[in-house]
Formats: sequence, structure tokens, C-alpha cells
Amino acid sequence: MAEAKKWVEPDPKRENWFWPTDELRERAWVSDPKIYEEAAADPLAFWEKRAEEITWFKRWDKVYEEEPYAFRWFVGGKLNLSYNSLDRHVEAGKGDKVALIWEPEPTDEPNRTFTYRELLEEVSRLANALKSLGVKKGDRVGIYLPMIPEAIIAMQAVVRIGAVHSVVFSAFSAESLRDRMVDCGAKVLITADGYFRRGKLISLKPNADKGIAGTSVERVIVVRRAGNEIPWNEGRDIWYHELVKDQPAECPPEEMDAEDLAFILYTSGTTGKPKGVMHTTGGYAVQAYTTCKWDFNLHEDDIHWCTADVGWITGHTYINYGPLMNGVATVVYEGSPDYPDYGRMWATIQKHKVTVYYTAPTAIRMHVKWGEEWPKKYDLSSLRVLGTVGEPINEEAWLWYFKHIGGERCPIIDTWWQTETGATCVEALPGIGPFIPTVAGRPFPGIRADILDAGGQPVSPGEGGYLVLKPPFPPALLRGLYGDPEKYKATYFGEYGPKYYFTRDGARMDEMGNIRITGRVDDVMNVAGHRLATAEVEDALTQHPLVSEVAVVSKPDEVKGEVPVAFALLKAGAQASDDLKRELIKTVDQYIGPTARPAEIYFVDDLPKTRSGKIMRRVLKALVRGEPVGDVTTLRNPESVDHLKEMVGYEG
Ligand code: PRX
Repeated sequence: MAEAKKWVEPDPKRENWFWPTDELRERAWVSDPKIYEEAAADPLAFWEKRAEEITWFKRWDKVYEEEPYAFRWFVGGKLNLSYNSLDRHVEAGKGDKVALIWEPEPTDEPNRTFTYRELLEEVSRLANALKSLGVKKGDRVGIYLPMIPEAIIAMQAVVRIGAVHSVVFSAFSAESLRDRMVDCGAKVLITADGYFRRGKLISLKPNADKGIAGTSVERVIVVRRAGNEIPWNEGRDIWYHELVKDQPAECPPEEMDAEDLAFILYTSGTTGKPKGVMHTTGGYAVQAYTTCKWDFNLHEDDIHWCTADVGWITGHTYINYGPLMNGVATVVYEGSPDYPDYGRMWATIQKHKVTVYYTAPTAIRMHVKWGEEWPKKYDLSSLRVLGTVGEPINEEAWLWYFKHIGGERCPIIDTWWQTETGATCVEALPGIGPFIPTVAGRPFPGIRADILDAGGQPVSPGEGGYLVLKPPFPPALLRGLYGDPEKYKATYFGEYGPKYYFTRDGARMDEMGNIRITGRVDDVMNVAGHRLATAEVEDALTQHPLVSEVAVVSKPDEVKGEVPVAFALLKAGAQASDDLKRELIKTVDQYIGPTARPAEIYFVDDLPKTRSGKIMRRVLKALVRGEPVGDVTTLRNPESVDHLKEMVGYEG
């Protein structure tokens, strides 16, 4: 590969700060930092302007209304998410543009691509089919599908007819599916026979059957993906291909009120029971569209690849609705990043000339471990913008991503948001910057955030506190928890009252307004009077060249209140030893100071992780505290817990 042109400039005054160059600024939708002041002066006018870029069947009467614990955007406006994702591009003459590229996991299987017209027709056929099964506006439809085009088609078809989807991650258990289907009262479930993961055929339908037994689900639509033998319930089950084949390819989109429910997505809270986060149509559409466009600087020729699963909010907003509302091509990959080898992601970027790549820090750390020789084999010069989401990114991973994937040309957009916010809320913009490792950036224009102390007072720049969002609340922010208004109030407004949405994240802000997320508040420690996030200690430990991944949890201590305990996964070939422990302590001393020294460091082979790859710190915390570990069956690797129990001498 030729010497890459440096598109992102390092800041000579500050180590590891980067700015967009003129070239990047010129292509950017927003490049003048004045946008922040303008939007702050009149956020309602700002969001109205953004809303005018999508298509409304009827314009709103009032842009925003608020009362304690409730707020509404674009009141009286009528629109449809599917119309905005598909029809409007076809009507604008872009029907032949590629909308979706599907990359199956088996390398000998061809890609499937859909133009905007083809996708619209397929969505319309399924929408008509759902109607034929009696699905009406407001009815809930469960989607339990792997990463295949039909997952996107199903979500689009459901919102097209005004029904409400609730997508359940396909690797979740039958029990998890049942909890969600029961809670939302789904009438129909869309699932598949099976799928491929890490070279193996995974059968899905038996789980679906188990999960819906005894629930309100009346009909099951089954996509034939893997061709495996599956149990069949005559009269209830119906093949997707048979159902849609004679349906008309046109289906008028339902005119939805801006505040009509679009979807419910379950997420875990501090208790065991998942919460049904409710998102409505208008505000969600506007913020999903705008953030996708500005964060990733999307233009018509972009090939956008977000590696999340459709079962998470990131998949909803940045695989499906965001990219499609922007009229770009979205990539859907079925499988695992290490199949058939560690180069799969980079091979896929090269193959489809991907321009935007959006992934999670945990994935980046995995690639760091596998080594830079893998991306080096491929031409990644099509990439323009990189993104991360889901957890704080440590500096080492950020710099590795910047250098080895982005070729030091691409800004890294570290987007902070939540299932509850529906779309990104805090990030640097590619044409404005700065891009600073471990710092997400400023609140998106038109979004107001602050950092408060426990008493509700704003903290000074640089001081740690709690991140809150202030009115006018972001357009895509949740409108409630399905069936549980009290829990909604208590979880998000219990601490600071109705004027502050409490994110439950710790953060600090510099003088410029750049926000560094320090992790969930549950993960914040108080060590000898110093507020310290477990993420900060993790960040320090991963600076050590032999550490691949690390999780830190706190443990009570008689003298210091709490002390950190670290679980470290070493890079291939590294040897665990007492000397290495001492070196790691030194590294923590060096990056934070002796107060942050872990009381214990365990070298582990595996860390307990959720199916989405997040480390389950709650389990580690229980282990070091000798408390009940709770249910670990939803973990990706429940067996790791037994090993850790032995290691820490757990007697809980
Ligand atoms: O703690 C924050 C962390 O992920 C939480 C939200 O998780 P979830 O609802 O699963 O949504 C993940 C995808 C949006 C937040 O409360 N988080 C998310 N993004 C970041 C982050 N932490 C640090 N930096 C981020 N960029």
C-alpha cells in the first residue's frame, strides 16, 4: 500500500489530541464549531431544521412539549419510519442504488444485495403478509432472527404497518425470549431455522418454540436460512418464503403520529428483570437520521458497516434506520469476526470498499490481541471514518485502531449513548474534532448535558460526577418502560427529579466541554476518599504491553473504603508471574497514582462476558465480595465463572 496521506492532524500542543485537516472539513456536513453555540441558543429551532430534512405526511403543530416525567417532540406531525428509509429514496430516483449488502459467514456462499427498490418491494410484501395474519397498528411483533437481510426487512415491515417490533438477540436463550414476549404481549414471532456462526450451523427454531410456549404468540413466521431440519407446528408455523410469495409488492405506509410507539427494546437494568425501553416514531427518526449523517459524515457513496447485532439498539439505529434514512448502503454480516481467520473483518472491508466502520472497544481489544499482521494483509484505504460505542475505550486500543485500521487518516468517533437514548448523544464530529483517546467529545448540537455531584450541583471542569441530560430532552430519548411507569420515573428521574435525566454513568468534562465517560456509576469506586472509576484503573493496566484485556471491580476495605481488584487477560505468549504483578502495579502508579493500586491482580484465561461481549463486572464483584453470583446462564461463557471461583477462593 502506498504511504497513507495523513488526514487527521496531531495537535503539537497536546499529546494524542487530533484534529480534522482541511480536507476532512471540506467534505464534512458540519465543520464550523459555531454550530454548538447556535444549537444551544435555540435547540428547538435546531431540531426543527433537522426534522425538515426527512419526509412528513403532515408537519408538526408544535415542536416540543414537556411536563414532569413526560415530553413530546413534533407534536401532531405524521410520518412513517419505513417510508423515510425506503420510499423516499425510490421516489427521488435512487431506486437502483444499493441499500443492503449481506455478507454470509460461509465464505463459499454468495453475498445478497438489495437495491432500494428491491428492499422496498420485499418489505412491502412482508408488510402485506403481516396484515393478512391480522397484525394491526399498535400490535407487538417479536423478531428473533440472526444477522440476515430478513432481520432488517422484518423491522421495516413491522413499522411500515404501524405495528411495534421487539427484537430479541438471536443468541439469547429461550427463557430470555419468553420473558420479553410475555412482557410485550407479542402476537406474531418472526424467526429462522438456523444460522452459521464460527463455521457451525446453529439451530434457532427449537429455541423459538420453547420461548413462545404458553405465551400470546399465535403465529410464527420462519425464514429458511440454514436448511436444517426443524420441528414444525402445523397451523401455527408458516414459512416466510411461502407467506410472501403471492403478496403484492406495494403496501401504503401507515401514517404514524410522531409520538406513536415505534418499537420496544429490552435492556438489563440493575435488577434481573429486563426493562422494555419504549421509542416513539418522530423524535427517534430525526435523531437517528441526523446523528448517523453527522457522526459518520455520510454521503451518497458511503458503504456503512456497523458490526453490532440487530438485537441491540446499535443495530436498530446504525445498521437499519440511520443508514437507510440517509440513503447509503448498509452492510450486514452474519457471523463471527474470527471466521475463517482473524482477518475476516478486514477482508470484508476490502471486498465491499467499506467507508465507515463502527464497532465496540471490546472487539478492537480482541484485534489488538490477534495482532496487526491481520489488518496489514488487506487494503483498508476505502475507510474514511471509524466509530466506537458501548463502553469506555482505553488509550492503547484507540491508538491501535487509529493507526492500524484507520491508517492515521480516519477520525475515531467515540459515541456515547444508551439503549434509552436511542441514538448517539455525546461524540466529536468528524469535521470539527478534537479526537482524543478515552474522551467521547461534546454533547451533540441541540443536546444539553451536565455533570452533577451527588447533591445535584454541577461540578467544576475536570472533576468527576454524574452525567445527566437536560431539557429539552433529546428527541430520541425513551418515553417510558413498557408497562412500568413507576420504574421509569425511579430509574431515570429518581435521583435528581424531572428536570434531569440521570444516565447512571460517571463522567468528567474539560473546559472545552469534552466529556470523558468513566463508566457506569455502579462501577465507580471511592478509594480512600478519591473518586475513581474502575475503567480508569483498567485503562492504566492496559497500558502495559503484555496486558490484552482487564476488568477491575471494587471490594470493600476497612481502611480505604474500597479497593480495586483486577482480573487480567495476558497477550499470547506472556507469562503470569509475581514480577509481572509488580510491574502492573507500577504501571498503575505511573498512570493514576498509588491510590489506584489494585489490592489483588488475578491472571485469568477468560473473563465472564455477555453475549454482546461486555464484561460482566457484576459477576466479578460478587466473586471478590463473596456475595451470591446470581444467574449466569445468559453469559456467553458461563464456564469461566467456575474457574474464577476457584481462583479467588470463593465461598459464597
Ligand atoms: O455506560 C455507558 C456505556 O454503555 C451504556 C449503555 O449501554 P447500552 O444501553 O447497552 O447501549 C450500548 C450502545 C449504545 C452507557 O450507559 N457506553 C456506551 N457508549 C459509551 C459508553 N461508555 C463509554 N464510552 C462510550 N462511547
